[in-house]
Amino acid sequence: MEKTKPGHGKSHRHAQAAEEPKGEDARRGFLLRMATLVASIACMVVPAVSGLAVWLDPLRRHKRKASGSPSNGTPPGYLAVASLDAIPADGVPRAFPVIADRHDAWTFEPRQRVGAVFLRRKAGADTVSCFTTRCPHAGCFVGYDADTQRYRCPCHASSFDVDGKVIAPSPSQRDMDALDAQVDAATRQVLVRYVNYYTGRADRKEKT
Ligand code: FES
Repeated sequence: MEKTKPGHGKSHRHAQAAEEPKGEDARRGFLLRMATLVASIACMVVPAVSGLAVWLDPLRRHKRKASGSPSNGTPPGYLAVASLDAIPADGVPRAFPVIADRHDAWTFEPRQRVGAVFLRRKAGADTVSCFTTRCPHAGCFVGYDADTQRYRCPCHASSFDVDGKVIAPSPSQRDMDALDAQVDAATRQVLVRYVNYYTGRADRKEKT
């Protein structure tokens, strides 16, 4: 039977005892490094995700807005421009501003003037015809001259009769741009599908 040399077992236990704390320290060090790494990743990812959410928010807001139905019964694409009662009943056209919310991906400006239209109510009728005030030649604001019963453009002297037909000689290559208009029977509001067309051309092409 092998005898343990005096002092040898004692030094072995000593070495074991010295190694155990070392192993424990290494494990703690590893866990600490892992925790630091996870915290660092979280510090980078959380602001990035928050920033992305803020960056995308206007787009999401407009999407929500676009998908919502009009609250006042106005058909999609139409704007309430004036009361039928505000239009002269004698067939004389009157200009009205077109008010709408203006927005792009990042800005939202409620109730801005986006254009103007002439509304004309034929004598004795509750129907309305509508022309944009933009001259088809180059986009100047056309006025109406009640004395001659003509629309006139101050920029290059295009003129149009009361039905919007171009009168020669005029630089405009086409008649005034008519817009769809309908009267809401319940509210007597005139609803206009307001669009802009390209100017300076004979055909009518809608801007999108
Ligand atoms: S812009 Fe109207 S005639 Fe030129």
